[in-house]
Amino acid sequence: MEGGSGVKPMPASTATDVMTGKNIAIGPVILLGAPGAGKGTQAKLIAKYYGIPHISTGDILRENVAQGTELGKKAKRVMERGDLVSDDLVNGMVAERLKQPDCSRGFVLDGFPRTVAQAEWLDRYLAARAAGGRPPVVIGVDVSYNQLLQRLTGRRACPVDGKIYNIYFQPPKENSVCDACGTQLFQRVDDTEEVISERLKSYERQTLPLVDYYQRAGRLRRVNGELPVEQVMAAIFRLIEGSAAATGTE
Ligand code: AP5
Repeated sequence: MEGGSGVKPMPASTATDVMTGKNIAIGPVILLGAPGAGKGTQAKLIAKYYGIPHISTGDILRENVAQGTELGKKAKRVMERGDLVSDDLVNGMVAERLKQPDCSRGFVLDGFPRTVAQAEWLDRYLAARAAGGRPPVVIGVDVSYNQLLQRLTGRRACPVDGKIYNIYFQPPKENSVCDACGTQLFQRVDDTEEVISERLKSYERQTLPLVDYYQRAGRLRRVNGELPVEQVMAAIFRLIEGSAAATGTE
Protein backbone atom coordinates (compact mmCIF):
# COMPACT_ATOMS: atom_id res chain seq x y z
CA MET A 1 0.00 0.00 0.00
CA GLU A 2 3.02 2.30 0.32
CA GLY A 3 2.79 3.82 -3.02
CA GLY A 4 4.41 5.68 -5.76
CA SER A 5 7.58 6.83 -4.02
CA GLY A 6 9.85 5.38 -6.65
CA VAL A 7 12.35 5.06 -3.80
CA LYS A 8 13.98 1.77 -2.96
CA PRO A 9 12.69 0.84 0.52
CA MET A 10 14.97 -0.31 3.32
CA PRO A 11 14.67 -3.92 4.37
CA ALA A 12 12.09 -4.17 7.18
CA SER A 13 14.69 -5.59 9.53
CA THR A 14 16.83 -2.44 9.28
CA ALA A 15 14.04 -0.24 10.54
CA THR A 16 13.19 -2.31 13.56
CA ASP A 17 16.46 -4.01 14.52
CA VAL A 18 19.16 -1.38 14.17
CA MET A 19 18.30 1.54 16.40
CA THR A 20 20.44 4.17 14.69
CA GLY A 21 17.73 6.60 13.58
CA LYS A 22 19.20 9.48 15.57
CA ASN A 23 22.09 9.69 13.06
CA ILE A 24 19.80 10.48 10.13
CA ALA A 25 18.86 14.03 9.07
CA ILE A 26 15.14 13.57 8.75
CA GLY A 27 13.59 16.93 7.89
CA PRO A 28 9.86 17.45 8.27
CA VAL A 29 7.56 14.41 8.42
CA ILE A 30 3.80 14.99 8.01
CA LEU A 31 1.34 12.29 9.09
CA LEU A 32 -2.00 12.61 7.33
CA GLY A 33 -4.99 10.56 8.36
CA ALA A 34 -8.49 10.54 9.76
CA PRO A 35 -9.19 10.86 13.49
CA GLY A 36 -8.15 7.53 14.99
CA ALA A 37 -5.91 6.49 12.08
CA GLY A 38 -2.98 6.10 14.48
CA LYS A 39 -1.13 9.38 13.77
CA GLY A 40 -0.36 10.00 17.44
CA THR A 41 0.70 6.40 18.05
CA GLN A 42 3.08 6.44 15.08
CA ALA A 43 4.32 10.00 15.69
CA LYS A 44 5.49 9.01 19.17
CA LEU A 45 7.42 6.04 17.73
CA ILE A 46 9.00 8.19 15.01
CA ALA A 47 9.97 10.88 17.52
CA LYS A 48 11.56 8.36 19.86
CA TYR A 49 13.46 6.42 17.21
CA TYR A 50 14.78 9.40 15.23
CA GLY A 51 15.18 11.75 18.20
CA ILE A 52 13.03 14.53 16.72
CA PRO A 53 10.12 16.41 18.34
CA HIS A 54 6.55 15.21 17.97
CA ILE A 55 4.35 18.22 17.27
CA SER A 56 0.67 17.44 17.74
CA THR A 57 -1.60 20.43 17.20
CA GLY A 58 -4.36 18.55 19.07
CA ASP A 59 -2.08 18.10 22.11
CA ILE A 60 -0.96 21.75 22.07
CA LEU A 61 -4.57 22.92 21.83
CA ARG A 62 -5.65 20.58 24.66
CA GLU A 63 -2.81 21.92 26.85
CA ASN A 64 -4.00 25.46 26.15
CA VAL A 65 -7.57 24.49 27.03
CA ALA A 66 -6.39 22.85 30.28
CA GLN A 67 -4.36 25.95 31.21
CA GLY A 68 -7.21 28.32 30.30
CA THR A 69 -5.04 30.48 27.99
CA GLU A 70 -6.66 32.92 25.53
CA LEU A 71 -5.97 30.44 22.73
CA GLY A 72 -7.47 27.64 24.82
CA LYS A 73 -10.62 29.68 25.49
CA LYS A 74 -11.07 30.28 21.76
CA ALA A 75 -10.44 26.62 20.87
CA LYS A 76 -12.43 24.87 23.62
CA ARG A 77 -15.97 25.11 22.25
CA VAL A 78 -14.84 24.39 18.69
CA MET A 79 -12.99 21.24 19.76
CA GLU A 80 -15.88 20.05 21.91
CA ARG A 81 -18.13 20.21 18.83
CA GLY A 82 -15.62 18.27 16.71
CA ASP A 83 -15.01 21.22 14.36
CA LEU A 84 -11.64 22.58 13.31
CA VAL A 85 -10.01 25.54 15.04
CA SER A 86 -9.38 28.49 12.68
CA ASP A 87 -6.39 28.29 10.33
CA ASP A 88 -4.92 31.57 11.64
CA LEU A 89 -4.83 30.39 15.24
CA VAL A 90 -3.34 27.01 14.39
CA ASN A 91 -0.78 28.35 11.90
CA GLY A 92 0.44 30.89 14.45
CA MET A 93 0.74 28.18 17.08
CA VAL A 94 2.73 25.93 14.75
CA ALA A 95 5.01 28.82 13.68
CA GLU A 96 5.88 29.42 17.35
CA ARG A 97 6.66 25.75 17.90
CA LEU A 98 8.77 25.35 14.76
CA LYS A 99 11.00 28.24 15.86
CA GLN A 100 12.32 26.11 18.74
CA PRO A 101 15.89 24.87 18.22
CA ASP A 102 14.93 21.21 18.72
CA CYS A 103 13.22 21.32 15.28
CA SER A 104 16.44 21.98 13.37
CA ARG A 105 17.17 18.32 12.43
CA GLY A 106 13.55 17.50 11.71
CA PHE A 107 10.14 17.13 13.33
CA VAL A 108 7.01 15.07 12.96
CA LEU A 109 3.70 16.88 12.50
CA ASP A 110 0.62 15.05 13.78
CA GLY A 111 -2.75 16.62 12.94
CA PHE A 112 -1.26 19.49 10.94
CA PRO A 113 -1.83 20.55 8.22
CA ARG A 114 -5.51 19.74 8.22
CA THR A 115 -6.85 22.10 5.56
CA VAL A 116 -5.53 23.11 2.16
CA ALA A 117 -5.00 26.64 3.54
CA GLN A 118 -2.81 25.22 6.33
CA ALA A 119 -0.82 23.13 3.83
CA GLU A 120 -0.25 26.18 1.62
CA TRP A 121 0.84 28.18 4.65
CA LEU A 122 3.25 25.40 5.71
CA ASP A 123 4.76 25.19 2.22
CA ARG A 124 5.41 28.94 2.28
CA TYR A 125 6.76 28.80 5.83
CA LEU A 126 9.18 25.96 5.12
CA ALA A 127 10.35 27.54 1.86
CA ALA A 128 11.08 30.82 3.63
CA ARG A 129 12.76 29.18 6.59
CA ALA A 130 15.25 26.99 4.78
CA ALA A 131 15.97 27.69 1.16
CA GLY A 132 16.99 24.38 -0.38
CA GLY A 133 16.01 22.52 2.79
CA ARG A 134 14.63 19.02 2.76
CA PRO A 135 11.01 18.81 1.53
CA PRO A 136 8.53 17.21 3.92
CA VAL A 137 7.86 13.47 3.73
CA VAL A 138 4.05 13.27 3.65
CA ILE A 139 2.65 9.94 4.79
CA GLY A 140 -1.05 9.11 4.53
CA VAL A 141 -2.21 6.50 7.04
CA ASP A 142 -5.24 4.68 5.59
CA VAL A 143 -7.84 3.10 7.89
CA SER A 144 -11.47 2.12 7.12
CA TYR A 145 -14.43 3.92 8.70
CA ASN A 146 -15.58 1.08 10.97
CA GLN A 147 -12.09 0.51 12.29
CA LEU A 148 -11.77 4.25 13.04
CA LEU A 149 -14.97 4.18 15.09
CA GLN A 150 -13.75 1.28 17.20
CA ARG A 151 -10.35 2.83 17.69
CA LEU A 152 -11.78 6.16 18.83
CA THR A 153 -14.42 4.77 21.19
CA GLY A 154 -11.85 2.33 22.65
CA ARG A 155 -9.00 4.83 23.07
CA ARG A 156 -7.67 5.57 26.55
CA ALA A 157 -4.59 7.65 27.40
CA CYS A 158 -2.25 8.22 30.31
CA PRO A 159 -2.35 11.82 31.58
CA VAL A 160 1.23 11.57 32.87
CA ASP A 161 3.30 10.09 30.05
CA GLY A 162 0.84 10.42 27.14
CA LYS A 163 0.95 6.70 26.34
CA ILE A 164 -2.04 5.68 24.20
CA TYR A 165 -4.00 2.45 24.76
CA ASN A 166 -7.09 0.87 23.28
CA ILE A 167 -9.47 -1.29 25.27
CA TYR A 168 -10.08 -3.45 22.14
CA PHE A 169 -6.68 -3.52 20.44
CA GLN A 170 -3.94 -2.47 22.91
CA PRO A 171 -5.37 -2.87 26.40
CA PRO A 172 -3.22 -2.03 29.42
CA LYS A 173 -1.99 -5.04 31.39
CA GLU A 174 -4.08 -3.98 34.35
CA ASN A 175 -7.58 -2.62 33.88
CA SER A 176 -7.59 1.19 33.25
CA VAL A 177 -4.11 1.98 34.54
CA CYS A 178 -0.93 2.87 32.65
CA ASP A 179 1.54 -0.01 32.29
CA ALA A 180 4.50 2.36 32.67
CA CYS A 181 3.48 4.53 35.65
CA GLY A 182 0.31 3.02 37.14
CA THR A 183 -1.74 6.24 36.66
CA GLN A 184 -5.50 5.97 35.99
CA LEU A 185 -6.15 6.25 32.22
CA PHE A 186 -8.67 8.77 30.86
CA GLN A 187 -10.96 9.01 27.81
CA ARG A 188 -10.75 12.19 25.71
CA VAL A 189 -13.85 14.43 25.89
CA ASP A 190 -14.13 14.40 22.09
CA ASP A 191 -14.15 10.58 21.95
CA THR A 192 -17.92 10.33 22.45
CA GLU A 193 -19.95 8.88 19.57
CA GLU A 194 -21.67 12.19 18.81
CA VAL A 195 -18.43 14.21 18.61
CA ILE A 196 -16.59 11.43 16.77
CA SER A 197 -19.22 11.61 14.04
CA GLU A 198 -18.68 15.40 13.70
CA ARG A 199 -14.89 14.96 13.65
CA LEU A 200 -15.13 12.41 10.87
CA LYS A 201 -17.40 14.76 8.90
CA SER A 202 -14.91 17.63 9.36
CA TYR A 203 -12.18 15.29 8.19
CA GLU A 204 -14.04 14.39 5.00
CA ARG A 205 -14.97 17.97 4.25
CA GLN A 206 -11.77 19.79 5.15
CA THR A 207 -8.86 17.36 5.40
CA LEU A 208 -9.47 14.78 2.66
CA PRO A 209 -8.79 17.43 -0.03
CA LEU A 210 -5.22 17.45 1.29
CA VAL A 211 -4.71 13.95 -0.07
CA ASP A 212 -5.32 15.43 -3.49
CA TYR A 213 -3.14 18.45 -2.74
CA TYR A 214 -0.10 16.34 -1.88
CA GLN A 215 -0.83 13.68 -4.49
CA ARG A 216 -0.93 16.26 -7.28
CA ALA A 217 2.42 17.55 -6.08
CA GLY A 218 3.75 13.97 -6.20
CA ARG A 219 4.57 14.13 -2.50
CA LEU A 220 2.11 11.70 -0.91
CA ARG A 221 3.22 8.26 0.30
CA ARG A 222 0.64 5.90 1.78
CA VAL A 223 0.67 3.08 4.30
CA ASN A 224 -1.97 0.58 5.32
CA GLY A 225 -2.83 1.78 8.83
CA GLU A 226 -4.94 -1.31 9.58
CA LEU A 227 -1.89 -3.49 10.14
CA PRO A 228 -0.54 -4.03 13.66
CA VAL A 229 1.27 -0.99 15.10
CA GLU A 230 4.77 -2.45 14.59
CA GLN A 231 4.09 -3.22 10.92
CA VAL A 232 2.71 0.25 10.25
CA MET A 233 5.78 1.65 12.00
CA ALA A 234 8.18 -0.43 9.87
CA ALA A 235 6.44 0.74 6.67
CA ILE A 236 6.66 4.38 7.79
CA PHE A 237 10.33 4.06 8.75
CA ARG A 238 11.08 2.62 5.31
CA LEU A 239 9.43 5.61 3.65
CA ILE A 240 11.24 8.11 5.85
CA GLU A 241 14.63 6.50 5.31
CA GLY A 242 14.00 5.94 1.61
CA SER A 243 13.34 9.65 1.31
CA ALA A 244 16.42 10.55 3.37
CA ALA A 245 18.59 8.30 1.17
CA ALA A 246 17.06 9.74 -2.02
CA THR A 247 18.02 13.28 -1.03
CA GLY A 248 21.47 12.11 0.01
CA THR A 249 21.62 13.60 3.48
CA GLU A 250 22.02 10.57 5.70
P1 AP5 B 1 -6.29 15.71 17.28
O1 AP5 B 1 -5.83 15.56 18.66
O2 AP5 B 1 -5.28 15.94 16.20
O3 AP5 B 1 -7.22 14.48 16.94
P2 AP5 B 1 -7.51 13.65 15.60
O4 AP5 B 1 -6.90 14.11 14.33
O5 AP5 B 1 -8.97 13.58 15.62
O6 AP5 B 1 -6.71 12.40 15.77
P3 AP5 B 1 -6.74 11.49 17.01
O7 AP5 B 1 -5.76 12.01 18.02
O8 AP5 B 1 -8.13 11.27 17.46
O9 AP5 B 1 -6.27 10.12 16.36
P4 AP5 B 1 -4.84 9.59 15.92
O10 AP5 B 1 -4.80 9.46 14.44
O11 AP5 B 1 -3.74 10.35 16.59
O12 AP5 B 1 -4.94 8.13 16.53
P5 AP5 B 1 -4.22 7.46 17.80
O13 AP5 B 1 -2.79 7.21 17.52
O14 AP5 B 1 -4.58 8.17 19.07
O15 AP5 B 1 -7.31 16.93 17.16
C1 AP5 B 1 -8.34 17.14 18.11
C2 AP5 B 1 -9.09 18.43 17.78
O16 AP5 B 1 -8.18 19.56 17.83
C3 AP5 B 1 -9.69 18.51 16.37
O17 AP5 B 1 -10.95 17.89 16.31
C4 AP5 B 1 -9.73 20.02 16.14
O18 AP5 B 1 -10.82 20.61 16.79
C5 AP5 B 1 -8.46 20.50 16.81
N1 AP5 B 1 -7.32 20.54 15.88
C6 AP5 B 1 -6.18 19.79 15.96
N2 AP5 B 1 -5.35 20.08 14.95
C7 AP5 B 1 -5.97 21.04 14.21
C8 AP5 B 1 -5.62 21.72 13.02
N3 AP5 B 1 -4.46 21.48 12.37
N4 AP5 B 1 -6.50 22.63 12.54
C9 AP5 B 1 -7.66 22.89 13.16
N5 AP5 B 1 -8.07 22.26 14.28
C10 AP5 B 1 -7.23 21.34 14.81
O19 AP5 B 1 -4.96 6.03 17.76
C11 AP5 B 1 -6.35 5.92 17.99
C12 AP5 B 1 -6.63 4.60 18.72
O20 AP5 B 1 -6.31 3.51 17.85
C13 AP5 B 1 -5.78 4.41 19.99
O21 AP5 B 1 -6.57 3.79 20.96
C14 AP5 B 1 -4.65 3.46 19.53
O22 AP5 B 1 -4.22 2.66 20.59
C15 AP5 B 1 -5.33 2.66 18.43
N6 AP5 B 1 -4.42 2.27 17.36
C16 AP5 B 1 -3.47 3.03 16.77
N7 AP5 B 1 -2.83 2.34 15.81
C17 AP5 B 1 -3.40 1.11 15.79
C18 AP5 B 1 -3.18 -0.07 15.00
N8 AP5 B 1 -2.25 -0.10 14.01
N9 AP5 B 1 -3.97 -1.16 15.23
C19 AP5 B 1 -4.91 -1.13 16.20
N10 AP5 B 1 -5.16 -0.04 16.99
C20 AP5 B 1 -4.41 1.06 16.77
